[in-house]
Order: sequence, then C-alpha cells, then structure tokens
Amino acid sequence: MDAIKMLKQQHREVAKLFKEFETAKADAPREKIFIQIADALAIHAAIEERHFYPAVKEEQTEELLLESVEEHLEVKRIIADLLDMEAEDEEFEAKMKVLQENVEHHVEEEETDLFPKVEKLFDAGALEEIGAAMAETEEELRSEGNPRDAIPSETDAAAPL
Ligand SMILES: [Fe+2]
Repeated sequence: MDAIKMLKQQHREVAKLFKEFETAKADAPREKIFIQIADALAIHAAIEERHFYPAVKEEQTEELLLESVEEHLEVKRIIADLLDMEAEDEEFEAKMKVLQENVEHHVEEEETDLFPKVEKLFDAGALEEIGAAMAETEEELRSEGNPRDAIPSETDAAAPL
C-alpha cells in the first residue's frame, strides 16, 4: 500500500470519528468514540514518526517534518489530558474540540504541503516500501491492544526525526 494513500485514509477515518463524536449526545458513547480516536491517533503518530518521517527526511522536507513532530506532541498532550478525564467532566467537550482543531490543522498541512513535496521526491516503489513497513507496525500495535496507552509517556518532547 502506498504510504501516502494509507495516511490519507487514516486522516479520513479520524475525521469521521470526530463527526460521530459531535453527533453523539450521551457521555457513554462519547467516551467510547474518544477511545477510538485516541487509539487511531496513537497508531497514526507512531507509524509516521517511526517510518514515514525518517524515510522522507530531505533538505526540502525537514522544516515541515520538524513542525509535524511538534504538532504531534501538542496532540499527544491533549490526548493524555483527556485520558485522565471522564466524558461527564466539564472540560471534556472543550478539550475534545481543541484536539479536533489541532488534528484538522495538522492534516491540512500534511495534505497540502508535506505530501505533495514527498510525492515529487519519491517514486511509487519507495512509497510502497514505506507503506509496507507502516502497515506492519500498525498490525503490531493493534495486536498488542490499547495503542493509546503509550501516549502519556510521549508528552515530554517531540519524536526525533
Ligand atoms: Fe501526522
């Protein structure tokens, strides 16, 4: 699977979950959807940081990648806060909104700036190879269960490129 296609697909899945969160009114389903969002973003960040970003690091992409890992850090910090909360907490909804805005901004930047640059620099074969490594890690993280559990330990500093 092409790495960029895979990442875009994950972006769409997370966007769909945020929409579901918005329409869910009760605390119990909201909590469930948040857990799904936290797991999806934990996997997404891990495969980008472990495989995609290091593989596409070039002079032309480095600045964008440094910004991306800082944005991941912000997102992880918000998720870590939310993992400590309950859906009925007063601040939960506001924090979810801030998480959604952060994720939307990050997705927009990747899709309009980073991915087109990467597509110019790397051919289909290279992107397939990166995608295969990403898929393998995703499988691993899913089979270990609760990918979100890793997030609170990743909130000190941005991931190295
Ligand atoms: Fe990302």
